[in-house]
Amino acid sequence: MHELTVLPDGTTAESAEDSSVLESLRRHDTILTSPCGGEGTCGKCRVLLEEGSANAPTPQERGLLGAAADEGSRLACQTMLQSNATVRIPAASRVPNVRVLTGGAPRDVPFFPNVRRRTFTWERSRLEDAESVVDVVAQLLDARADLRVDLAMARQLATGMEDGQTYEATILGNRLVAISPEGVDEDPLGIALDVGTTTVVAQLVNLTTGEAVGTHSRVNDQSRFGSDVIARINHSVAEEGGLDELREAALSTIKECVAMSGVDPSHIYEAVAVGNTTMMHLLAGISPESLGQLPYTPVVRAGADVPAADMPMPFNDVASVHLMAGIAGYVGADTVGAMLAAGFDEEYDGVRLLADIGTNCELVLQRGAEIVACSTPAGPAFEGARLEHGMLAGPGAIERVTIGDTCEIRVVGRVEARGICGSGVVDVTAQLLDADIVEMTGRMVNEEDAPESLSDDIRGRIEDGEYGPVFVLARREDGDAVYVTQRDIRETQLAKAAVRTGIDTLLHSMDIPADDIDELLIAGGFGSYLNTANARRLGMIPDIADEKIRYVGNAALVGARLALISAEMRARGEALSRRVTHVHVARLPNFQDRFSEAMLFE
Ligand code: FES
Repeated sequence: MHELTVLPDGTTAESAEDSSVLESLRRHDTILTSPCGGEGTCGKCRVLLEEGSANAPTPQERGLLGAAADEGSRLACQTMLQSNATVRIPAASRVPNVRVLTGGAPRDVPFFPNVRRRTFTWERSRLEDAESVVDVVAQLLDARADLRVDLAMARQLATGMEDGQTYEATILGNRLVAISPEGVDEDPLGIALDVGTTTVVAQLVNLTTGEAVGTHSRVNDQSRFGSDVIARINHSVAEEGGLDELREAALSTIKECVAMSGVDPSHIYEAVAVGNTTMMHLLAGISPESLGQLPYTPVVRAGADVPAADMPMPFNDVASVHLMAGIAGYVGADTVGAMLAAGFDEEYDGVRLLADIGTNCELVLQRGAEIVACSTPAGPAFEGARLEHGMLAGPGAIERVTIGDTCEIRVVGRVEARGICGSGVVDVTAQLLDADIVEMTGRMVNEEDAPESLSDDIRGRIEDGEYGPVFVLARREDGDAVYVTQRDIRETQLAKAAVRTGIDTLLHSMDIPADDIDELLIAGGFGSYLNTANARRLGMIPDIADEKIRYVGNAALVGARLALISAEMRARGEALSRRVTHVHVARLPNFQDRFSEAMLFE
C-alpha cells in the first residue's frame, strides 16, 4: 500500500499496488472524468505525477498524452504506483458541476395521485354492524371495498381509536398505510426521478396539492465507472459485484438528492422513476448484459411497482416505487415520460417529431394515432467526450461560437474557457463550414488553403496540430489553447449523421416527406442549448422553420411527475409504451447508404 498525496487539495489517499491511481482516487471520493471507464482510450483522466515512481506508460498512453508525457503527465487509469507519490489534478480532469435541465413544459392532467390523504371521524358505534375495524375505516373513508392493511397497520388499529376524534388516513393504491390524528402529519410527498446516465434529477411533489416543492440534481455517482451506458454495462458484467456497485451508486445519488431537499424522507410515500433502459435495469438490480450485445433485448420493458424497502430507496418504510415502462433496449422509460409530457398519448392532427439528442439519440414520430420510434448511437461528441478539449456543459465549457471577422465565444459560468461542450462543437463546426475552413466532406483546410477572404484574426487561428490542422477558439492565461481538431470535426460528423439517419429512417417508415413535419419537439439537456440554425447547417435536422421547433426541456422528468400525480397518466404511459412501433435503424438493409449520405455536410 502506498500513500498518495493529492494536489491541489492537499489530501492523502491510500493506493494499493494493484489499483490504478484512478481507482484509488475514486475510493477517496475524488472523481476524475473517465468517459472510457478506465480503459485507457479517452485520454481524459490526466494527472501530473509530481513525485514518486510508477509503471512506465504504454505506447498507447504516450500517444494520447503527446508531448505532455515527457513533462510527467499520466493517465490516472493506467498508472500503478510503485512508491508513495504526489499527483496534481488539473481542473480539466475533474468532473465538472454539470448544467442540468430540471424544468419542462407543463401539461394539465387530472389530479388523482396513487397516494391520497383523507380525513374521517371515528364512530365507534359502527362496529356493531361491521365485520371488522378495517371495514368501518373503509366506510368512513368512502374508500374501495378492498382496502388492505399490512400487519403493522392492523396492530395500530388494534390499539383503538378515540370516539369522535378526526383522523387523517394515507392510502397508497388500495393500501391504508398511515393513520394519525388530524393536523399531526405533514402532507404526503411523492418524488419524480429522472435517472440519467450523467445526472439524476429528483423533483419532490406535494401529493395533496400537486405542487412541486423542490427539484434537486446530482451527477450520477455511477459516472465513476464510465460515462456511457456501454461502460456501465461492461462494469456490471466484467467486475465481480459490479452490478451491486452500480445499483448502490444510483441509489446513493438519489439519497443525496433527497438530503439536499431537506425534507424528511419518511414523508415520501411514492416515487416514479424514468431513465434509459440500462439505468432502469441497474436501478432494479437486473443485469443489463443483454443490452450490451445484439439484438439488445431488455430483460423487462413493462412498468413495475416495487416496494421502496426492497430496492432499498430511502423513503417511508411502506413507500412504493413505480418504474415506468420502456419501449426497447435503447428507447427507454425516459422516452415514454417525454412522450407523455408532450401529449403523444393523444391523437395528433398532423406530423410531429420528438428528438432527445445525446450520446444515444431517441426519436419518436407521430402522425394521427400512429407512432414509430427508434434510437441511434450519436456517440459521445454531443456530451463533449472523445473531443480533444471536449467536456460536459459545466463551468468553463464553450457553449456558443460565432465566427465572423473575429471568433466570439460564450462560456458556461462566464469563466475562463476550459474546453468545449456539445452545443459549442455544433456551433463551431457549422461556422467553420460557413467560413469554408471545413469542406462539405468534413476536411479541415490548413492555413495556406484557407480562403483569402478570411480576416487575419480568423486565419491566425488555423494552426498545425499533431494530427492535422486545428482551429483555436480561446487562449488561456496559462498559455494553453482550447481548440477543435480535424478529428473533432469527424466525431461531430459521425454524430450528426447518426441523428439524421434516424430521422430519415422514421420518416421513410411512414412514407412522410420531411417538409410535412408540422412540429419538431426537442427534449433533453443538449437539445435545449442547441442552436437549431447551426444544427440545420450541419444537416443534423431537416430544414424545419424555427417557428415549428419547440424546446420541451426535461420532458422525461415532467412525464414522471405526471405519472406521479395522475393514475390515469400512469396508465396512459404504460399503454403508450406498448402502442409504439420500434424501428431497428441499424438492421435495415439501406442503413449504410443512408448513413454515408448523411455524413456529408450540406
Ligand atoms: S483514459 Fe483514463 S479514463 Fe479514459
